[in-house]
Amino acid sequence: MINVSTSAVAEIEDYRGTKTLPAGHRVALSQRLRSETSELHREIEARLGFPDSIRDLAAYRSCLVSYYRLYSPIESCLAAFPDWDGNGIGLRERLQGPRLLRDLEALDVAAASCKAAGGEWVPLVPDFAHALGVFYVLEGSTLGAQYILRRLREALGNQIDGADAFFRGHGAASGTMWNTAKRAIDSYGEKHPESCDSVIQGACSMFGAVGRWMTRPE
Ligand code: HEM
Repeated sequence: MINVSTSAVAEIEDYRGTKTLPAGHRVALSQRLRSETSELHREIEARLGFPDSIRDLAAYRSCLVSYYRLYSPIESCLAAFPDWDGNGIGLRERLQGPRLLRDLEALDVAAASCKAAGGEWVPLVPDFAHALGVFYVLEGSTLGAQYILRRLREALGNQIDGADAFFRGHGAASGTMWNTAKRAIDSYGEKHPESCDSVIQGACSMFGAVGRWMTRPE
């Protein structure tokens, strides 16, 4: 689903050392994240099979429960880092746990019945750089979610009225929110070139965690 433009591919080939980059040129971290996780994105898209795998309201509810059980411990872990504001990211307004909770309430699911995923399912986040990689995946996934929601609406209609905040993501503010996030990520990458690989690693483990958890046998 992600189209990496020809020029981006050329730059990544450069980055990987196929050609020599102009002195002082560094690929923006958000661009590296996009390119270096595009295969993982393709895999997770196929593995989850949204929206076709969500055929009715029961499947929709169970999908939201699963997301809530995984995202709440991950987001608590991210929120424990004090570095967000200083790096230009308002984490609180972006958290998906509260939106999931609202949707679940609208679907009559008690939050207390949703046990958080155990530590073995949650990606390792040893430092802020890894946390930023996890954040990239969480934020980026809100882009695809809007496309998924349009298709879910076709299948489920008004059954999900009042319970679609998670898939709506940032709604009309999506473009602005995504650009702000990417600018903050790029600026972190410029200030901390030595930590960029850890950011990528954090993003890769987040893709792995979501794929494993969402397709686990119950
Ligand atoms: C399962 C079905 C999925 C579909 C159909 C889908 C679709 C999409 C689409 C269309 C975009 C690009 C949106 C745009 O550029 O405006 C996108 C971006 C993205 N998605 Fe997904 N997605 C899916 C699942 C996921 C999942 C489960 C995750 C991770 C938890 C995820 C993470 C991302 C990220 C990080 C981006 C941003 C890529 C970038 O531009 O850097 N996606 N997705």
